Amino acid sequence: MKKMGVLTSGGDAPGMNAAIRAVVRGALYNGMEPYGIERGFEGLMEGDMAVMHAASVSDIMQRGGTVLKTARSERFRTEEGQKMALNVLRSFGIEGLVIIGGDGSMKGGLQLAQHGINIMGLPGTIDNDLAYTEFSIGFDTAVNTVVSAVGNVRDTSSSHERTTVVEVMGRHCGDIALYSGLTSGAEIILIPERTVDIDAISRKMIQGRNRGKLHNIIIKAEGVNITTEELVRIIHEKTGMDTKLVVLGYVQRGGSPTARDRMLASRMGYRAIELLNEGVNCQAIGITGTKITNFDIEKALSMKRRHNENIIQLADILSI
Ligand code: F6P
Repeated sequence: MKKMGVLTSGGDAPGMNAAIRAVVRGALYNGMEPYGIERGFEGLMEGDMAVMHAASVSDIMQRGGTVLKTARSERFRTEEGQKMALNVLRSFGIEGLVIIGGDGSMKGGLQLAQHGINIMGLPGTIDNDLAYTEFSIGFDTAVNTVVSAVGNVRDTSSSHERTTVVEVMGRHCGDIALYSGLTSGAEIILIPERTVDIDAISRKMIQGRNRGKLHNIIIKAEGVNITTEELVRIIHEKTGMDTKLVVLGYVQRGGSPTARDRMLASRMGYRAIELLNEGVNCQAIGITGTKITNFDIEKALSMKRRHNENIIQLADILSI
């Protein structure tokens, strides 16, 4: 394979730039010509791409976001959009694509794979919601950002003897809430994978107050099936405690990637190139323990995600 492309798609995630750097420089090292495609599948359909050189990816590893820009493309979901993308790839002579994004982006890639394009998927999402990999690029940075924000919130919560509910991202997956909750010492962690028992939460808070605990941090993933405003209202009603709300929102998606995310992105990006070079077809790159893994994309996307019950139990035990 001579020409290959790289794009970022879906929500941005810190570490995407480190992945682009590894893909571009890895491709050059292996004698390929890498094309950078702008705005994900949107740019692909428009032929919005350019050859990248070693210098094109200098000074980007430490930057959050993605220098290639990203988009969530409705048009690419249509047959017409996919045909446009295929025509562009054929006219440029591009045989392989590295797609950095979440499961939706990888599914998009599979449409092109059916027409002979080799697709490598890198998990780029802060949500950590892909079943086939223990960690995705951007998750570690997002967790660290939340932990730092919760530290500030806790100061105020403690000074005013308040409860603060901090809403974090994670539509279907509570990993950001779980990992940041455990590592910031949150009293209560609410994730979409578990049903919320407001009576139990209130009981725990009242027991804590009876022991002299006058402030609480509750970390709630956005995907939990009660609005954060409603939760705050009910908790206040049941406990009588002054309860405030902080929504961290996009603060979690930006920022310079941690060393761990840069490492993950560099290793995964280079592995994608090795597989393209070896002519292996359509793989999703992941990590298990310290080992970089790869699975057939279809198989990877069909795996069912299970939340880590041990971490949930540990958080419960330690947050009395
Ligand atoms: O998938 C990553 C994510 O940040 C989710 O946690 C969040 O629900 C969603 O993206 C927000 O997406 P958008 O950028 O379209 O608002």
